[in-house]
Amino acid sequence: MHVTRKRAVVRHLSLGGMALSTGRMNVLAIESSCDETAAAVVVDGRVARSSVVASQVGLHAKYGGVVPEVASRQHLLKIIPVIVEALETAGCTLDDIDAVAGTRGPGLAGSLLVGFNAAKAIAYGRELPFLGVNHLEGHIYANWLVEGPEPKFPALCLVVSGGHTDLVLMRSHGQYERLGGTRDDAAGEAFDKVGRLLGLPFPGGPHVAKAALEGGKSALDLPRAWMPGTFDFSFSGLKTAVLHVVRDGKYGMPEIAWEFQEAVVDVLAGKTSRLARELGAAEVLVAGGVAANQRLREELVRRCPVPVRIPPIKFCTDNAAMIGAVAGHRLALGERSPIDEDIFTTNRWSRLTEQSLVATES
Ligand code: KG4
Ligand code: ZN
Repeated sequence: MHVTRKRAVVRHLSLGGMALSTGRMNVLAIESSCDETAAAVVVDGRVARSSVVASQVGLHAKYGGVVPEVASRQHLLKIIPVIVEALETAGCTLDDIDAVAGTRGPGLAGSLLVGFNAAKAIAYGRELPFLGVNHLEGHIYANWLVEGPEPKFPALCLVVSGGHTDLVLMRSHGQYERLGGTRDDAAGEAFDKVGRLLGLPFPGGPHVAKAALEGGKSALDLPRAWMPGTFDFSFSGLKTAVLHVVRDGKYGMPEIAWEFQEAVVDVLAGKTSRLARELGAAEVLVAGGVAANQRLREELVRRCPVPVRIPPIKFCTDNAAMIGAVAGHRLALGERSPIDEDIFTTNRWSRLTEQSLVATES
């Protein structure tokens, strides 16, 4: 598909003293796959001019998890104000936008539909190129939003979010091979469920991490599922072990939080570093909400034989800048999505690779 609108004139916008040259590709990106309504303006897939995130966490906390119906209704209320704020913060208007991107999946259907259709409507109304983006690819591309040299290939990506835990080899832009992943709970899901068992607020991850800091090491020794001969993970046994320890009442909540976190971090960092060595990866890229975990960050850096990149915390958890980072790269390679493209709820890494191969051939 050809680019429908070309900008011959180079305009300059005032951005806190910086000039934004529109000879570049300015993408308006929208994300609403779960419980954050987010929009961002990203230049050339590398610089986030703005990144606005409206979190619904307070709304869902009293239910102990995300309620899909509540989430999609809240996205409807927030989507326009968040987009307007993202444009304003970037110091631009829709006239300065060259393409629009929206998260296509995976995620909650009712949530995805709001942001994805908003993105499509803007692209259609303004006759701009449109791109549907995979949320997990977005988490990986958060590593492109950091100033300095770009990540090097082949890169081993550890994707650790609320719904996914995958070890994926990225040979180049858009080329993914899944080499391992969880067989049951995702790492973030385990943090959230254990947080609940420990009586901590939702989402458990940051609260368990905070409690662990107060706890420190004790005599408690929780199991690690090493799944020998594979690069797969399993966290459901660990969760059950925590349940028994809580019921026994021998250890305090912060000590349990510490040992649980150590068990998760040990397996994630252990397997990632071993695979990076076996593959001869150039770098390790860490992605997803659990990448915000300080102990995980420390252990990955300590154990991996190659440089480890981890996005700043604001780009680890859900945001739209990461979606704009993917879009900047894929659009530059000539990729476009049809305006009647639909959302998907379940991830397949192979579909992502097929998508970029088609784009490169056409
Ligand atoms: O990537 P994300 O923001 O949303 C999904 O795509 O799922 O990840 C959310 C997950 C939640 O399970 C949350 O508990 C976890 O990331 N998380 C953390 C931390 N911050 C967020 N887990 C452990 N330690 C943290 N500091
Ligand atoms: Zn996410």
